[in-house]
Amino acid sequence: MSTATVVPLTDRPAWKALEKHFRDVAPLHLRQQFADDPQRGKNLCAEACGIYFDYSKNRITAETVSLLIQLAKESGLAERIEAMFTGQKINVTERRAVLHVALRAPKGEKIEVDGQDVVPEVHEVLDKMSKFSDRVRSGDWVGHTGRKIKNVINIGIGGSDLGPEMAYQALRYYSQRDMTFRFVSNVDGTDIAEATRDLDAEETLFIVASKTFTTLETLTNAHSARKWLLDKLGDEKAVAKHFVAVSTNAEEVSKFGIDTENMFGFWDWVGGRYSYDSAIGLSLMIAIGPEQFREMLAGFHEMDVHFRTTPFEKNLPVILGMLGIWYNNFFGAQTVAILPYDQYLNRFSSYLQQLDMESDGKHVDLDGNTVNYQTGPIVWGTPGTNGQHAYYQLIHQGTKLIPCDFIGFCQSLNHVGDHHDLLMANFFAQTEALAFGKTADEVRADGVPDYQIPHRTFTGNHPTNTILLDRLTPAALGKLVALYEHKVFVQGTVWHINSFDQWGVELGKVLAKRIIPELESTSPPELAHDSSTNTLLTRYRDAKEK
Ligand code: F6P
Repeated sequence: MSTATVVPLTDRPAWKALEKHFRDVAPLHLRQQFADDPQRGKNLCAEACGIYFDYSKNRITAETVSLLIQLAKESGLAERIEAMFTGQKINVTERRAVLHVALRAPKGEKIEVDGQDVVPEVHEVLDKMSKFSDRVRSGDWVGHTGRKIKNVINIGIGGSDLGPEMAYQALRYYSQRDMTFRFVSNVDGTDIAEATRDLDAEETLFIVASKTFTTLETLTNAHSARKWLLDKLGDEKAVAKHFVAVSTNAEEVSKFGIDTENMFGFWDWVGGRYSYDSAIGLSLMIAIGPEQFREMLAGFHEMDVHFRTTPFEKNLPVILGMLGIWYNNFFGAQTVAILPYDQYLNRFSSYLQQLDMESDGKHVDLDGNTVNYQTGPIVWGTPGTNGQHAYYQLIHQGTKLIPCDFIGFCQSLNHVGDHHDLLMANFFAQTEALAFGKTADEVRADGVPDYQIPHRTFTGNHPTNTILLDRLTPAALGKLVALYEHKVFVQGTVWHINSFDQWGVELGKVLAKRIIPELESTSPPELAHDSSTNTLLTRYRDAKEK
């Protein structure tokens, strides 16, 4: 689809209608809306792929939904979905296809890039990963001294870390418990030092995960890991048994000293933050085994099919994405809180932070024009109920509008007393409290003294989505992640931006490269930065020498 055919966002008829409609809806209170329509909680819901999505506690009417769907249509969403799924080069600034959906396409499906079907290659790599994972798990792949591998350390950063780590934590229940899995990302030496300090090198496997294999943090950590190993084992040959790589860059992998036989490839049409279901998930596959990894892929695929084929009115990623547009662009909300009520999802919000903010944090559109509307939100959150005792105060009674996604499961994986009912009671209570609040009259009726009444009143009318699943399984995780991947895509499409590049991370990297010799050289070059940076660097150098 030519990018030029899309009418500028603020000129689209549905946008204009939504601007007008917003003035009618903004003053409405959820308390009144639920009172007016006793079926609201059943009507404003959608269900697919085992995900029950209740969006009734949003500040919308049925008309809002139809106008938002209209906006999605006017934004060319259907065409963009097809363009993505059929391998068109929609990442225009890097001239690449965007095909994370091919990573979970079943054998036999055909998805072409430049006339070549990529699905067989995907399955070849999956098969190679499966064989390797089985060998490590069973003890058939041994370390240099013949010992079984008991520890796996994934070295990567950004998408090469957040995805595998989030998914490992999420699916830990299903993992091989006699093995230890760690994830090293930060160039701060503390990360690798703490990750290795209590491990036996003879039993440790490092997976160096980097799409480009040029990332400073990852290569620095990989070199330090190599040194740690060689210091302990004293033989260069040990590297072959203790290091494998996941990358698209065979040349750099081999320069590092890893045999490309022990490299698991992927492709430039997989973005880093969309990659943990590729070979980047090797550590996860070793943890949960190939079969459960494939169940997770099947979950992703189910959501892909739903997204591609379901009318927008019932399409989970479309509704979720368009509700986000409603708050971001009409209510002026700056952030979105992701609040999973499941301890296993303790890294989920951090993972979504990169997925969403690196994708849609753009201020120019696909044609290079500066946008005159807000794009990607700030994404944050932590698992419930911890957040309730930290920052929920501001969500309930502060001055900012914070739309929240509550994610929960009906069944617990760990049956400990009545913990799960207590957890879920809080889950349901919070969305109820946020929506309906507590009026001054209700507070007074409780016998609260007058001077406290304003402080103990809850205005309510705070919007939430409730995303409810039966059980956290590998497939459920795949569905959830794909839901958010496609949500980000829906929003990027409406904003007419490229959700698949990340040029914004470059400048800091370039400047850091310039500063490194200024900190490390024994005869440092004269500092030629601004007066603030010069003073800070001088102070650091002086203090470091002391
Ligand atoms: O700097 C940002 C980024 O490019 C992310 O997009 C990516 O996930 C991360 O760095 C790691 O990149 P790589 O896998 O190439 O090491």
